[in-house]
Amino acid sequence: PVTRAAFEEALRLYPPAPSINRAAISDDSWTDAKGERVDIHAGMTVLIMPWTLHRHELYWEKPRAYMPERFLPENRGKIGRFQFLPFGAGPRVCIGATFA
Ligand code: HEM
Repeated sequence: PVTRAAFEEALRLYPPAPSINRAAISDDSWTDAKGERVDIHAGMTVLIMPWTLHRHELYWEKPRAYMPERFLPENRGKIGRFQFLPFGAGPRVCIGATFA
């Protein structure tokens, strides 16, 4: 568990894939944490930035600090599925995550 936590904390601070990109296939919208709506039009490129997300003050306590204990089993459940994305998420999630 300690080795895994250190690995995951390293992936949080230095995600090897700092940007995950998608082309919108249809119109959509997204509401940010402050309640502001962002319209996404078909054909737009959407960049999801794990680097930024992983260091965001809304989601992490002391975001710039190296604190592997965040990822110990007793704390892991507090980390939201879409707040930590070193391997992406959804249908195109990294198939090598467990191997890595
Ligand atoms: C620390 C190591 C790794 C990181 C950070 C990583 C990260 C990622 C990310 C973020 C994606 C999603 C890209 C997207 O959604 O556009 C991805 C996809 C993928 N990864 Fe990894 N990866 C790692 C290791 C591996 C390994 C070891 C393998 C194979 C043995 C692998 C195979 C793949 C494949 C095939 C996809 C494409 C899956 C799909 O599009 O259906 N990755 N990886």
